Amino acid sequence: MCHSSTGGDRTAFPDTFINELVARNDIVDVVSGYVRLGKKSGSNMFGLCPFHSEKTPSFSVSPDKQIYHCFGCGKGGGVISFIMEIENLSFPEAVAFLAKRANMTLPEQEDDRESKKRSRMYALNKEAARFFYEQLLSPAGAQAREYMAQRGISKATATNFGLGCAPNAWDALEKAMREKGYTDFELFDAGLVKKGRNGGWYDTFRDRLMFPVIDVQGRVIGFSGRILTGEGPKYLNSPETLVFNKGRNLFALNLAKKSKSGYILLSEGNIDVVSLHQAGFDSAVASLGTSLTAEQARLISRYTDQVIIAYDNDGAGQKAAQRAIAILEKLELKVRVLQMSGAKDPDEFIKLKGPEAFAQLIEGSENQTEYRLAQIAKKYDLSVDAQKLDYLREVEDLLARRPSAAEREIYCRRIAAQVSISPEVLIGEVANRRKRILRQTAAAEGRGSPTRLSQPASGSERPLRYDDPASAVAEEGVIRLLYLEPELIKSDRLPAAEEFSSPALGHIYSVLRTRLAEGKTVSADVLGGELEAKEVSLLVSILQKPEALSNAEKALDDYINRIRDRRRARERGRDPMQIYQQRKEELEKHT
Ligand code: UTP
Ligand code: MN
Repeated sequence: MCHSSTGGDRTAFPDTFINELVARNDIVDVVSGYVRLGKKSGSNMFGLCPFHSEKTPSFSVSPDKQIYHCFGCGKGGGVISFIMEIENLSFPEAVAFLAKRANMTLPEQEDDRESKKRSRMYALNKEAARFFYEQLLSPAGAQAREYMAQRGISKATATNFGLGCAPNAWDALEKAMREKGYTDFELFDAGLVKKGRNGGWYDTFRDRLMFPVIDVQGRVIGFSGRILTGEGPKYLNSPETLVFNKGRNLFALNLAKKSKSGYILLSEGNIDVVSLHQAGFDSAVASLGTSLTAEQARLISRYTDQVIIAYDNDGAGQKAAQRAIAILEKLELKVRVLQMSGAKDPDEFIKLKGPEAFAQLIEGSENQTEYRLAQIAKKYDLSVDAQKLDYLREVEDLLARRPSAAEREIYCRRIAAQVSISPEVLIGEVANRRKRILRQTAAAEGRGSPTRLSQPASGSERPLRYDDPASAVAEEGVIRLLYLEPELIKSDRLPAAEEFSSPALGHIYSVLRTRLAEGKTVSADVLGGELEAKEVSLLVSILQKPEALSNAEKALDDYINRIRDRRRARERGRDPMQIYQQRKEELEKHT
């Protein structure tokens, strides 16, 4: 995951505000609302971690430092990070949450006029949704109700989604909203009316079943309208507006985010989503008529680490699935793909075979490697030797790119059996290809191989793999010392962030250093405005390790020397530790 992709809006709050916010939301109080904390070892309080399942408490809260850290899963941070994590909120949302808790008013974050315009638009959209909903219940909604009955959409489902109906008229919405005090220009900016040739306005959505698009904060941001009768595109969506951006939102994520299922079900159509929810699959979402974007994937990753793709069963759907897999995997999401046979989409599948059959489909859904292997196999006639070879070449390339050695071996054996060759041969081929690919990517990335930013090393499930652990320990030391002894920023020996071997640590260091150099304070909370959640966790885990502060300057010097030694060693392409280890082993052999 990219360590430098900090959101632009995260730094919008002044430090003084964040500091006061944190002071008024004591971490022990806040955490106690979610976790039972008992007093234990030293000044730390312990409880059962809310972020992973455990039987003995490894979740610690430090009232002195106002931070939390789980020794089990590695998550950690300040009170804002905690709220982000447990309430599934973004940084600004968590700040708003805590401000409300402490009865503080948020500082104005954007130009007043723009923000007023936005909130008017949200209010207008909400009114419009209410209008469409009322229409659905009125005589004007007879046709839409009939259509819903025909598609098996219940009244309760309609209410759950806030479905509505745009009447078959040119200005029904326009009139109703004008009565509520909105101007035609406001309606136009919200995409609800269009300008006619004669200079008048007419409703964008007419004679359609209306799906309000609601963001994760519960605001109506736009609409998607399905045609009922007459001509025109099957779906009409709101245009991009001040509050609506198709590529950054997902239909029904406002509902799906509350699901307990542990995964997000990604489908293509609004109707599929509605059907799925009605059948009990309450984590279904859809992208709004576009293929999945990286931003939508990032949004999903805030709520789950598992995505099940349930796209249409046609060529376009399968192609879209391939693209979605690539985007989702970049964010380290686990992806599985449903293979529906005998139905063109989830809606039809549920209608034909029932929810249980769909649940079984999820149960047996293929992980994406299996899915891709099946896709490749479809292209070849494996009874023809020449095609077998082409098949194997493609399979080797796919498997060589899988990060897990166990996974590579399992599939090598399976494929080898399928085409009756010796598994060892295939395993060998895949290993060779993998080496070649790794060499190529390392060369393409310049110095060293890419470091993946994952959880910190302290007993976490997925340890952060440092390229140069010996240097990384010293880099962590520099960060820890600077954090605990801000005075050290005056040292004239401080390394450049580029001297760090770990890009993740380098980024944390450069943010820390910049702030201290500007005379600003540091805390897990203010840094949370500039660092990703994973980086905050990493920072907090670094702070957990003991540091002798009595001779901090000397310690800093030692760390810096180590970083520079290691760097020189790497540049020479030789590893002194390795040489030492080798020598030791040789000596031991001889004695
Ligand atoms: P589908 O045509 O599969 O629609 O398009 P659907 O929702 O499954 O509806 P039914 O079951 O066929 O009646 C999938 C999605 O693509 C977008 C919509 O978001 C739709 O839900 N779309 C489709 C458009 O934006 N415009 C269109 O003209 C068609
Ligand atoms: Mn469809």
